[in-house]
Amino acid sequence: MKMPLVEANFAVTVDGKVSTRGHVPTGFTSDRDKRRLLEIRARGDALLVGRRTLETDNMAMGLPVRSLQERRLREGRTAEPLRVIFSNRGDLRRDMRVFRTPGAPIVVFTTRAMPAATRAWLERLADVRVEPRGRSVDLRRALQALARDYRVGVAVCEGGPSLLAGFVGAGLLSKLHVTWAPLIFGGAEAPTLLGPAASSLLRRSVPLRLESFLVEGEEACATYAVGRPRKISKTATAAGR
Ligand SMILES: NC(=O)c1ccc[n+]([C@@H]2O[C@H](COP(=O)([O-])OP(=O)(O)OC[C@H]3O[C@@H](n4cnc5c(N)ncnc54)[C@H](OP(=O)(O)O)[C@@H]3O)[C@@H](O)[C@H]2O)c1
Repeated sequence: MKMPLVEANFAVTVDGKVSTRGHVPTGFTSDRDKRRLLEIRARGDALLVGRRTLETDNMAMGLPVRSLQERRLREGRTAEPLRVIFSNRGDLRRDMRVFRTPGAPIVVFTTRAMPAATRAWLERLADVRVEPRGRSVDLRRALQALARDYRVGVAVCEGGPSLLAGFVGAGLLSKLHVTWAPLIFGGAEAPTLLGPAASSLLRRSVPLRLESFLVEGEEACATYAVGRPRKISKTATAAGR
């Protein structure tokens, strides 16, 4: 079954935090990094976010840069990536910015826990995909549905940590973009990439390969591919590669 590649993009402080204990909205990096975020967003066929980030960061999930939209159209794509929301409980509000902002179609992956009243108004605004069993959305099946029904080849996940933990834990993450911000937040309960320390346990560590590392002003932007480093054979080394 076809699966989209999932790329995640996060801003992280030097002590590895993606937010404070009080969950301040993302936005602690430079304007240059915010532009970079939109360029990465523009590469995706779909933008994926968890319910809490959607709420905390008051996201419209659009691509508000004309030149990036035009580039996508020249490439024969839609002007903006599909907006995809994950919420197990389905407790979404009609007044959330994403539902008030015109733009790309919206898809919501949820479970049968979604209140019937929410589903009634939401189905007028979005394609609501309900997990038939269980209390959480099966991320692998959700990605398969995105590939099959929306022809999504690349999905960009902008968080938050809980959603990213789901993709990493299921072995579904392909690439990770990280901007290291020159800040220290502190706080054991402030979330790291995969959430607060207590809930970010993985069964095994995930190896990454550094693909690029760029220092821009006070920030450093790294891109990692998920997977073991390529082995350089002795022959290749001896040949002076
Ligand atoms: N620095 C950065 O780059 C960055 C990026 C993104 C977010 N953040 C910050 O991270 C914080 C929020 O992170 P978070 O981990 O608390 O929240 P999150 O991952 O954005 O959202 C968590 C919620 O998403 C839903 N969810 C997660 N995994 C799911 C799955 N597999 N299937 C279905 N639904 C799923 C659940 O919603 P329900 O509760 O509705 O079931 C869950 O409670 C905010 O402070 C935000 O600003 C930082």
